[in-house]
Amino acid sequence: MPVITPYRDSAKGKKEQVAEMFDNIAPKYDFLNHFLSFGIDKLWRKKAIKLVIKHKPESVLDVATGTADFALESLKTGAKQIVGVDISEEMLNVGRTKIQNLGVGDRVVLQSGDAENLAFSDGYFDAVTVAFGVRNFENLSKGIGEIYRVLKPGGMICVLEFSKPTLFPVKQLYTFYSFYILPLLGRLFSKDNSAYRYLPESVEQFPDGEHFLEVLKQIGFTQARQHRQTFGIATIYIGIR
Ligand SMILES: C[S@@+](CC[C@H](N)C(=O)[O-])C[C@H]1O[C@@H](n2cnc3c(N)ncnc32)[C@H](O)[C@@H]1O
Repeated sequence: MPVITPYRDSAKGKKEQVAEMFDNIAPKYDFLNHFLSFGIDKLWRKKAIKLVIKHKPESVLDVATGTADFALESLKTGAKQIVGVDISEEMLNVGRTKIQNLGVGDRVVLQSGDAENLAFSDGYFDAVTVAFGVRNFENLSKGIGEIYRVLKPGGMICVLEFSKPTLFPVKQLYTFYSFYILPLLGRLFSKDNSAYRYLPESVEQFPDGEHFLEVLKQIGFTQARQHRQTFGIATIYIGIR
């Protein structure tokens, strides 16, 4: 299967292209996210973190944190230490401004970092979260393997990711919206011609639902479960190390 990358004509690898794309759209990312999803993305993040709250983590790592929305939602878990990592410095800069404005810099810290090579020791975190990030990993198993490594035994993974609705007429409406409307609006507002074409294509290729649960189980996670959201447009996956 061909690897789906943001820029079809680029000779760079997926990771470099993904970082470049998010650096490009960083200033408009939050606005576009909420606008193009009609604000439902906020609701999905809240629902996902509600599952993490039950786990009562003291330390949380938010992988592919971007502008830190999921990391900030994690404040509700009561965790004393929340670390967000991302490969896009521009996304992190937007997130750092939010953290500063909210005055939560004592609990939330953002740093540059690659999901596939995490700079933390084994068994460090009580929970690891990823929202709309795993689909962008160059090597999915390597990224999930690294998350497993940095989790304490008994620690929880919580992944929120787009998935493919299967029911008529949601499937048809979603396909039309994501392949025709979304790229047009994305191009108009983000000034990046490819970013919002890459989004539906990467969702299409991502192993969602049972396939992703299988990836979690293969890495070693137990109690792997999925919670489908809004007719399956997004799914929350959890598992225990
Ligand atoms: C769609 S954004 C999601 C940001 C944020 N989690 C949210 O909920 O809005 C995807 C993010 O994943 C980051 N990313 C992609 N591959 C990564 C990797 N290998 N390691 C760390 N971050 C990565 C991108 O730079 C981007 O900021």
